[in-house]
Amino acid sequence: MSAAKQSGEKFSFTSENAARAEKIVAKYPAGRQASAVIPLLDIAQRQSGGWLPQAAMDHVADYLEMPRIRVYEVASFYTMFNLKPVGEHLVQVCTTTPCWLRGSDGIVGACKKKLGIGVGETTPDGKFTVVEVECLGACVNAPMVQINDDYYEDLDPELMEKLLDTLASGKKPGIGSQTGRRGSCAQSGPTSLKEKAKSNA
Ligand code: FES
Repeated sequence: MSAAKQSGEKFSFTSENAARAEKIVAKYPAGRQASAVIPLLDIAQRQSGGWLPQAAMDHVADYLEMPRIRVYEVASFYTMFNLKPVGEHLVQVCTTTPCWLRGSDGIVGACKKKLGIGVGETTPDGKFTVVEVECLGACVNAPMVQINDDYYEDLDPELMEKLLDTLASGKKPGIGSQTGRRGSCAQSGPTSLKEKAKSNA
């Protein structure tokens, strides 16, 4: 992430992102372009290295001809928008009840131990930020984390540490279940239609 992107003093869409924004706005009826605020904030956040400086929100507001305060309201309401810089890998640990019952405390503990930071903090090298989040909709394979755009499921503290090691080494871990579970199949394996499951394996 460049220093310019981090400073957040100036922002305008790159030509590629401006073209994307134009396509999105064109999906809405004339005069309703404000409906595109969430996807445009997402584009702005990705361009800014994972967070939304005020200049980026202002650019989106001006682009959509919206009062700036309305864009700030949207950006501060949805937790997928970050209003301060985050690390290269944003580790969102789900700690809602199903994940908690399946050991999310241990997942948070593994992050703290491995990275030496607490929840809401970023490692000094800017590589990792750890946050706690509410249900991410993958409870069937709890506990789980989201790291940037990917889900990692069926975790335990050891698997979580491995995941962080892989990311720290610059590699991309396999996404989804970390124990090889297929979809939301019972942990003990298929309980019905077993022959069918075998023939699909
Ligand atoms: S409770 Fe963690 S994904 Fe739903």
